[in-house]
Amino acid sequence: MILRSQVAGCGAYLPERVITNRELAGRLDTSDEWIRQRTGIGERRVAAPGELTSDLALRAAERALASAGMNGSDLDLLVLATATPDNTFPATAAKVQARLGMVRGAAFDVQAVCAGFIFALSVADNALRLGQARTALVIGAELISPFMDWSDRDVAVLFGDGAAAVVLEASEREEGVLAEKLGCYGDAREILRVQGMGGRYANRGVLYGITRWQFEGQEIFKRAVQGMSGACEDTLTRLNVKPQDVDLVVPHQANLRILEAVAKRAHLPMERVYVNIQRYGNMSAATVPVALCEALEEQRVRPGALLLMPGFGGGLSYCAHVVRWGSRTTPLKSSAVELPPNERPALQIIRECLERKTRPSAAAPTTPFA
Ligand code: ACO
Repeated sequence: MILRSQVAGCGAYLPERVITNRELAGRLDTSDEWIRQRTGIGERRVAAPGELTSDLALRAAERALASAGMNGSDLDLLVLATATPDNTFPATAAKVQARLGMVRGAAFDVQAVCAGFIFALSVADNALRLGQARTALVIGAELISPFMDWSDRDVAVLFGDGAAAVVLEASEREEGVLAEKLGCYGDAREILRVQGMGGRYANRGVLYGITRWQFEGQEIFKRAVQGMSGACEDTLTRLNVKPQDVDLVVPHQANLRILEAVAKRAHLPMERVYVNIQRYGNMSAATVPVALCEALEEQRVRPGALLLMPGFGGGLSYCAHVVRWGSRTTPLKSSAVELPPNERPALQIIRECLERKTRPSAAAPTTPFA
């Protein structure tokens, strides 16, 4: 008997405040035209001050559980992918576990940056296949806005906040994760990094979260296309499935041009690639599950559909999963949980983020990023 991880439900939570390209262009030397042409992004979400990754994750988790007709006490395992945890420890997953009323099983974080959700899906899938758990909740959640340097046009236009989750259930049917490929170009890890978060900066006068984002966009672009298209080919070949048999590609979305290049190289038609980067930008680990939830809502996922989910992220991690969807494409129940209303306009939120970083009390005293 082969056990597989069937997707029993999913749910997303996106902060209500939106920042458009035009609003950013009012503050930075950029334009809606440049951002759309180079990235495909039109707007992104920003969480309210005080909201944490665990808050976004909890709302997404509650919605996913409702859609599966379950609650926290039905879960055996919780894996949360994030690069922006509430704390380095305890794990953000532990807080979500407690708040969900989950009483048994493990809860821990996985960190593979933008590829985190797909890596977390592998961890949960393996646990279900081995019989270590019968049910699992996999969450991708990111709160990037407080760490963002909103005065740097190179990065400020690219990212957004969000969260989404899927519930997995062990099944003997030929459904769920059929094949996976995970990899990492560790030699290229330095071409994408955020300075100011991590032990490398401890005791060097750097305040945690006063960050500097550094990346070599064109090199990341090349590796992303190579890693994602290679992982797609690898998984499809192992399953003896042709690209034309894939019903929908639900990829990590960092740049529309990357998606077009991956599709071309992996012989996947763009009409079958789900794209929502225009609404959210890159939400790191939240991107793939949010896209999956929206593809379902838009009825782009049919019963029995074959899905391909490629991703890449810092590390540089790359991956692809092939998932056979089950028979149910509508939620069993819905949940309307919301965070308290956010009265602050998005531009005010980012202005306050910048002010907090540049206050004399918050500024790093030396040149800590050398
Ligand atoms: N608005 C206007 N001009 C800008 C902006 C902006 N927001 N950002 C950069 N530019 C300028 C640059 O300064 C440069 O000007 P110059 O020619 O006078 O020197 C010019 O635009 C071209 O810059 P490039 O970096 O060559 O632009 P590119 O076409 O490579 O696009 C981008 C940059 C969108 C980041 C792209 O390289 C990319 O998507 N890379 C892969 C994804 C990525 O790196 N994402 C961020 C890391 S997170 C992750 O994806 C896992």
